[in-house]
Amino acid sequence: RILNGEPLVFETEHYKRDGSRILLEVSSKGINIGGDLYVQSFHRDITEKKAIQEQLIHSQKMESIGQLAGGIAHNFNNLLTAMLGNAELLKEYSDMDDESKQRVNNIESSARKAGILVSKLLSFARREKSDVLPLNLNDVANDSAKLFEGVLDKRIGLKTNLSDNIPTVEGDPSQLEQVIMNLMVNARDAMPDGGLIIIKTSLVEIERDRFNMPSYIMPGKYVLLTISDTGSGIPKEIINGIFEPFFTTKEKGKGTGLGLAMVYGVIKNHKGYITVQSEVGKGSTFDVYLPVSGKAAYKAAPQKLFSVSGHENILLVDDEEEVLNFIRDILETHGYKVLPAKNPLAAIDIFKKLGSEIHLVISDIVMPLMDGKELIKTLRTIKPDIRIIAVSGFSDEAVNKDILKIDDFLKKPFEINQLLSKVRHVLDTGIRNLPPY
Ligand SMILES: Nc1ncnc2c1ncn2[C@@H]1O[C@H](COP(=O)(O)OP(=O)(O)OP(=O)(O)O)[C@@H](O)[C@H]1O
Ligand SMILES: [Mg+2]
Repeated sequence: RILNGEPLVFETEHYKRDGSRILLEVSSKGINIGGDLYVQSFHRDITEKKAIQEQLIHSQKMESIGQLAGGIAHNFNNLLTAMLGNAELLKEYSDMDDESKQRVNNIESSARKAGILVSKLLSFARREKSDVLPLNLNDVANDSAKLFEGVLDKRIGLKTNLSDNIPTVEGDPSQLEQVIMNLMVNARDAMPDGGLIIIKTSLVEIERDRFNMPSYIMPGKYVLLTISDTGSGIPKEIINGIFEPFFTTKEKGKGTGLGLAMVYGVIKNHKGYITVQSEVGKGSTFDVYLPVSGKAAYKAAPQKLFSVSGHENILLVDDEEEVLNFIRDILETHGYKVLPAKNPLAAIDIFKKLGSEIHLVISDIVMPLMDGKELIKTLRTIKPDIRIIAVSGFSDEAVNKDILKIDDFLKKPFEINQLLSKVRHVLDTGIRNLPPY
């Protein structure tokens, strides 16, 4: 075609002398010099450009799957809250024979399992609240390893190789423990005939120009957590898909394909990233990088216990009748007086009339007509020091706690005890320093 005068642009791959592969864009055309036909070719190295493009496509894809998953999970949470709540109430306040009780227990445990699934999806969708604190990743790794050792088949060895002087990272310990657990479970599943899992930590420095890193990764110091196994390995054809939700090679009923999706979401949430190397028949290595924090590691303080009933007046706002009735029943059976409102406008009416007698407002955040955030703002202008608990299936609103100036946040689905203890706690908190809008 070139000889026929057609210019051609195409991509091709070559190997360097050291064996590494490079991608080239070649543009060629025939030119006539003094009656002789020559082929003129420009070769451009596009290895890096390609890698960046692929990275971008991948992260955009993960982003949109995340949005979809987050939307579904949110609606699901509302339904689960009503299911769990009613099941709990049924057990507590009705006379049932043991068989019926067992059935209600089954409903409850299924709904709870669904809740766990939803929370995995939400953590992938980056909507899960994280209780972030400075911590030493070695502690999390040690805890997880101890937990896991107990359930491991004897033919699988578990070795830890933790660096003594890694600095603190900022993270949610229970989410990070989940990450390590998920990676270890996958490693175990890849070694049905036994093998070795190694957990390693170390301190690494990421330099500026590592082009195969996601664009949101800043150069600097990172704690590297490596989990490797000597298992089946991951075939090249599927390795790009393993972090996607519902991708699994396990039999039906064995795997949900949410493990690595959750891992990916949590790590991204922690401003870190994860890479994988694998060779079929030899094993796999997952590298988790988390940015180093300057803060000292946090030591947990003992928790205080407090009573959960009371007599105060509570304005309760939720557009979903099941949720509204459920919360109302719980509060009323524990002595509170509840003023229910099915939408923010009704709530404002009630508040204008009875505001001085209302001690606490519990409001959903996502509602039609006027959303909960607007409502909270309006209530605060009427009565600046009113105590408010926001309820939502999403948790990023909790991060907005300061913007909303709420006193506490309750994530759906919640349990009766969580609701009651938050209510009591907020009511008992004395003089408050509310920042102005
Ligand atoms: N260490 C590993 N060795 C070999 N294959 C792995 C490893 N980790 C993940 N995989 C592959 O990636 C797939 C997705 O993993 P992921 O943890 O997301 O889901 P799952 O383990 O199949 O299901 P779930 O974690 O929900 O039980 C696995 O089905 C498996 O094919
Ligand atoms: Mg898994």
